[in-house]
Amino acid sequence: MAERKIILTGDRPTGRLHLGHYVGSLMRRVEMQNSGEYDQINILIADDQALTDNADNPGKIRDNIIQVVLDYLSVGIDPAKSTICVQSALPALHALTFYYLNLVTTARLSRNPTVKAEIQMRGFEDEGLPAGFFTYPVSQAADITAFNANIVPVGEDQLPMIEQTREIVEKFNRIYGETLVLPKAVIPENEVQRRLPGVDGNAKMSKSLGNGIYLSDTAATVKKLVNGKMFTDPQHLRIEDQGHLEGNVVFTYLDAFCKQEHFAAYLPDYACLDEMKAHYQRGGLGDGTCKKFLINVLNELMDPIRESRAKWEADIDTVYDIIKDGTARARGITDETLEKVRSAMRIDYFKDRSIIQEWEKLL
Ligand code: TRP
Repeated sequence: MAERKIILTGDRPTGRLHLGHYVGSLMRRVEMQNSGEYDQINILIADDQALTDNADNPGKIRDNIIQVVLDYLSVGIDPAKSTICVQSALPALHALTFYYLNLVTTARLSRNPTVKAEIQMRGFEDEGLPAGFFTYPVSQAADITAFNANIVPVGEDQLPMIEQTREIVEKFNRIYGETLVLPKAVIPENEVQRRLPGVDGNAKMSKSLGNGIYLSDTAATVKKLVNGKMFTDPQHLRIEDQGHLEGNVVFTYLDAFCKQEHFAAYLPDYACLDEMKAHYQRGGLGDGTCKKFLINVLNELMDPIRESRAKWEADIDTVYDIIKDGTARARGITDETLEKVRSAMRIDYFKDRSIIQEWEKLL
């Protein structure tokens, strides 16, 4: 029998999702979902993981669960094809984490490059490092293995998590016998998908920098961000000056979002992006024209997402049932894995009474 293709992916509900999430993962999830090639697709809202660095602000996580679900549904995640579930309501994940923690050394955890960078970014070096945050890659290994996932579509920054998960799986299977499925990461194919910069050219989009375009942003907000804040070429002062594409965020975004047919609709002077770029480099194409085109391109993508979001927003009752049902389904899957793990570890004392004979023989 061919191996079943099981996907697990997820997000921390710490904020609304932005265009970087869209090109980096959401777009691909929807494609995978609609390809019919996968046997099971699970999307985890990782609220427990989000709490590892937000312990003092649980309200933020609570509020953003609905934002993230609305973002999923509005881009085309279909609850009939993909299971959307909430981490904190899956107790098997907690139990698995506790067992897996014994298979990882603190030295190994200290080497995880993504966690290292996050520790720095969050100032945990000075403040003290929450043990839960330090060990979250182990909880992520629990997420992945609990769903028996062999395919984990993630951003590049998540590769160290999948690597650590694979090590845990190998160690578990070596000690306790073949039980867990070895997962593989699937990362975005090209550079723009891997990291879409903020509108100001900063490598990271963040709420505090105000440099992100969120899927739920209005057309007016998009226009304001692109016209008012998007970084272009500081040497391109007059329209006839030669323009540069490197680091020019308008062109980075066009690389990510523009399609051939957008030219006929919004900028018929050019047949394709290469022609437009060539004119910009040669001189004679102004930033204003480029930005106006980009705004049209973005709104063509975002208008249907906005429409869909508005419909779901008017029916939060149904959205609630979607994640409640998804979580119930996920609970069945993850409980079953925990049971297998406990059997493999021989800590299933109360499954039946057979241990009585074992114990009697000892006495
Ligand atoms: N760490 C992931 C992120 O920050 C979110 C996540 C939690 C996840 N559990 C997961 C991703 C399991 C893939 C699989 O984006």
